[in-house]
Amino acid sequence: MTFRSTVLVTTAITLAAPAFADVTIYTTRQPFLIEPVMEAFTTETGINVTLNYVDDGLVERLKAEGQRSPADLVMTVDIANLNRVAEADVLQPVDSKTILTAVPETLRSPDNLWFGLTKRARIVYASKDRVADGEITTYEDLTDEKWADRICTRSGVHNYNLALLSAVIEHHGEEAAQAWAAGIHDNLARKPEGNDRAQVKAIWAGQCDISLGNTYYMGAMLENEEQTEWANSVRIVFPTFEDGGTHVNISGIGLTKSAPNKDEALQLMDYLVSPAAQSLYAELNWEYPVLEGTELSDLVASWGSFQEDDSSLPAIAQHRGTALRIMETVDFDG
Ligand SMILES: [Fe+2]
Repeated sequence: MTFRSTVLVTTAITLAAPAFADVTIYTTRQPFLIEPVMEAFTTETGINVTLNYVDDGLVERLKAEGQRSPADLVMTVDIANLNRVAEADVLQPVDSKTILTAVPETLRSPDNLWFGLTKRARIVYASKDRVADGEITTYEDLTDEKWADRICTRSGVHNYNLALLSAVIEHHGEEAAQAWAAGIHDNLARKPEGNDRAQVKAIWAGQCDISLGNTYYMGAMLENEEQTEWANSVRIVFPTFEDGGTHVNISGIGLTKSAPNKDEALQLMDYLVSPAAQSLYAELNWEYPVLEGTELSDLVASWGSFQEDDSSLPAIAQHRGTALRIMETVDFDG
């Protein structure tokens, strides 16, 4: 009898006070692209996740909130954004063996302040009608005069293109990178405008034959009724560097310095690099998992396999200032 009442009391206490605090994430990613993964985490652990969608001013907000910030984790895309958060001194290093093992050194900051969770390749969308198989194989090819008036791209100073140019600098040095940027500029069919999908639309409309774009936009276009035609007018070509592979960038995560629920946040970080979460998260975003051996979604697999460039992303990120200067010098957007 006494035993039984003890059990009842314990149960009541457990119900009244949740076993874990919630984890709060500041994210620049669309909530619908990450909610299902967070729900799976909550089901497995009982830890709730609050997603706080921050479109602009992520760094400013974290700095202003300081130690009072409710954010435990920050999730964003592109090494430039991840670096900006790290440089604002609002992240703390993570030494979880799970995440250090899952995320290759080339895809995390040297001080373990941020970690890649998914990868996207910056590739060429090529007109199915006007570009033959094998007609383009390297990034260096893009400056060949056979592409004169045939290339479309978004702004040269967008993060995605600055990272690609930074990778060119990493491979060939500053001078060659400037010649490369100038060569592409000479081959443009129109002034850079719009986003990556707008370039595929331009190919569909016959304004150009190839464009630079991130892989996941193929998935996004196929899910959009109006854009399906655009997507179907092109195929993905994975160019490589002459002395390397295909340029990739990441979406990533970092633990805030102030994290009020650090233990739970670390559990979530570990979970996000688990095989189940990796495959779900990558599939939702039409991206590539960072965890080696994770199966790709059928759609992403259908784009073909590629050799990923093995340059380290932190090394590439260091060339951003030089890349920006080159884009301005060659008047890429003019
Ligand atoms: Fe994007």
